[in-house]
Amino acid sequence: MKILALVGTNADFSYNRILLRYMKKHFRQMADIEIAEISQLPPFSVDTPLSEQTEVWKLKQKVKAADGVIFSTPEYDHGIPAALKSTVEWLSYKTDVLKHKPVMVVGVSYGRQASARSQVQMRQILVSPDCDANLLPGNEVLIGNASHSFSKDGRLINAEARDNLEDCFTHFVEYIQIFENANKEGLDMSVKQPTISEAYINFPTGRLTLKEVQQIFSTIPFEIDLIDSTDHFAWFSDKPNREHVRNVASLGETVQECHPPLAVPAVMGIINSFREGKKDVVTRPLWMNGHRSLIQYYALRDVNGHYLGTIEFTGSVEYILNLFENGAWSTDGNTGASKHEDASDNSEEADSVDASTGASESSDDDNTDNASEVVATPAPAVNDDTDADATTGASDAGSVDANDDEADATTGASEN
Ligand SMILES: Cc1cc2nc3c(=O)[nH]c(=O)nc-3n(C[C@H](O)[C@H](O)[C@H](O)COP(=O)(O)O)c2cc1C
Repeated sequence: MKILALVGTNADFSYNRILLRYMKKHFRQMADIEIAEISQLPPFSVDTPLSEQTEVWKLKQKVKAADGVIFSTPEYDHGIPAALKSTVEWLSYKTDVLKHKPVMVVGVSYGRQASARSQVQMRQILVSPDCDANLLPGNEVLIGNASHSFSKDGRLINAEARDNLEDCFTHFVEYIQIFENANKEGLDMSVKQPTISEAYINFPTGRLTLKEVQQIFSTIPFEIDLIDSTDHFAWFSDKPNREHVRNVASLGETVQECHPPLAVPAVMGIINSFREGKKDVVTRPLWMNGHRSLIQYYALRDVNGHYLGTIEFTGSVEYILNLFENGAWSTDGNTGASKHEDASDNSEEADSVDASTGASESSDDDNTDNASEVVATPAPAVNDDTDADATTGASDAGSVDANDDEADATTGASEN
């Protein structure tokens, strides 16, 4: 279980941060608690340009990915610190990341009231319509007299407070599980409804059952994502060990919501070039997770050429390039025989190159045709610096490391 714990202050020294660090360690067998800071966020303003919202975007991604969120609030003048209020405003303005998210409030302060008043305020804020979080009721973690409640090495030494914290956190974990189970039961219930799993789709070239469609996407060695014609993240192929890790929570988000702000102009540039018919494909070779990958964006069009959306194709090409570099396609000048025994120690694998397609050499001609079609599209950008930068806000395409800011054009998900 993944829990995000927000330090509710921008102060360098904070007892609330000490409390969260203690919880992370103390409850490590119950949950994976990640501590998040709010000091890098700009003060909330509806006028803040997108280009200055990168840290906000990162925090939203973390909240989205978490099973639950803990807010640890100090008490400033009987209320929550301005920096924390600003953070919640970022997490509630034009976003649903807190909606129905299980949340828990804890707090430390100097006074005897032990942040009770700020916690009441925090709870009110979290159930406001734009936050709409699932707040853990009761279970007050009120730690006053901060300097005497913790040891120098950050342990909670107030035994009563510790017992209470253990009870409350256990209840929070159970609370999260209730929602998880409710979601699962919801799915199970839908399975009991009549389904169309036995249906099949008739293509001009044959028919597939829905199960086959699903499993094809899980089996082919690349992944596909779709931004629909209204610029919403509509679908991603379900495949183990994806290069780009996707989260179902991002489905339905707009391009702006699911990308780092710095990447949005470039992503929209690609999408608009497809929509306007100026381009059909943008190609971007990239090192990902230590191997060579090919990322390609395609305009998805109906038979009449009307724009249906943008597809992102991502595939590791390491295996193919290794085959190539080991001479898999080199032929004997006299016989034309393939030298694929050089290409791989595993002749079965080499054979399967042919076996999977059943293609004769004439299929090479087909490929050539395809290749020329790609070239013929208006200005495909192959390893184009502008596209590489614009898509991710990152430096040169081909750089090995994907840093935190790096994200792909379809969803903006980090490549880490
Ligand atoms: C501007 C300000 C106002 C404060 N107001 C209160 C208060 O109303 N009640 C209280 O118990 N402590 C108050 N304190 C003291 C905080 O509880 C204390 O600084 C606490 O350590 C803050 O939590 P932190 O260590 O996580 O930053 C205030 C501190 C500041 C800086």
